[in-house]
Amino acid sequence: MSKALVIGNWKMNLDYVEAVHLTQQIAALLASRPVERVDVAVAPPFVDLRSVTSVLEAERASIAVAAQHVSDRDNGAFTGEVSVAMLKRLGVSSVIVGHSERRTMYHMDDALVASTVRAVLRGGLDAVLCVGEDLVTREAEDHESFVSGQLTSALTGVEEFSEHVTVAYEPIWAIGTGMTATSTQIDAMMTTIRTQLASLGFVSSRVLYGGSVNADNAGEIVTEGGVDGFLVGGASLKTESFGAIVHACNDCYAERR
Ligand code: 13P
Repeated sequence: MSKALVIGNWKMNLDYVEAVHLTQQIAALLASRPVERVDVAVAPPFVDLRSVTSVLEAERASIAVAAQHVSDRDNGAFTGEVSVAMLKRLGVSSVIVGHSERRTMYHMDDALVASTVRAVLRGGLDAVLCVGEDLVTREAEDHESFVSGQLTSALTGVEEFSEHVTVAYEPIWAIGTGMTATSTQIDAMMTTIRTQLASLGFVSSRVLYGGSVNADNAGEIVTEGGVDGFLVGGASLKTESFGAIVHACNDCYAERR
């Protein structure tokens, strides 16, 4: 049976000492209460990656490590950037690409998202492609075509990597606001996204939801919203809430649609 996926996106939180501590706690929690239906990953800041992968190796924990961003270039004079090969060497297995915070605050446009997805896949890592509309687009009822456009732009021509792509639907208005999308809204978008993915040749990609997911709403979103898991922000910074989301997903996930 296919598994769900829950990723904790730590964003720009936790220095390496704090990151080691949280990683140890999450590993201990999942060792004491293992999950069979959920793959678990954490996405720490770049400077924490080595420490986190070392802890997970030492603990033999089956928790994957994702990066939050990467350069679309292979190497060279790109001050401040980090390459896919560097991440791979550290034991990172996937990269979040095109998070709305990067799109809106750091001018990551559709073209850069597409070239970054290509760099990640070409380099042998998995891509977690983020898509999602802002409130103006939602209120104008343009969200379905907007998100379909984001998928087409990022994924056209890379269907051979289908198994290495996960999509995270993160409506911008639901991120960090406590305003979770309803299960009905999520379910409708899951259908739109899966239809668009199928038309692009992506049949095996998991589709996650992100935006104010917490221990209380996770189970219902899995059951009613038809998601394959979560990309969790704020609630991933505490062992208890992240663990509760992982376990809710494990209890409620039936199978990929
Ligand atoms: P919150 O869970 O804090 O709303 O963040 C969601 C998110 O952006 C995950 O990438």
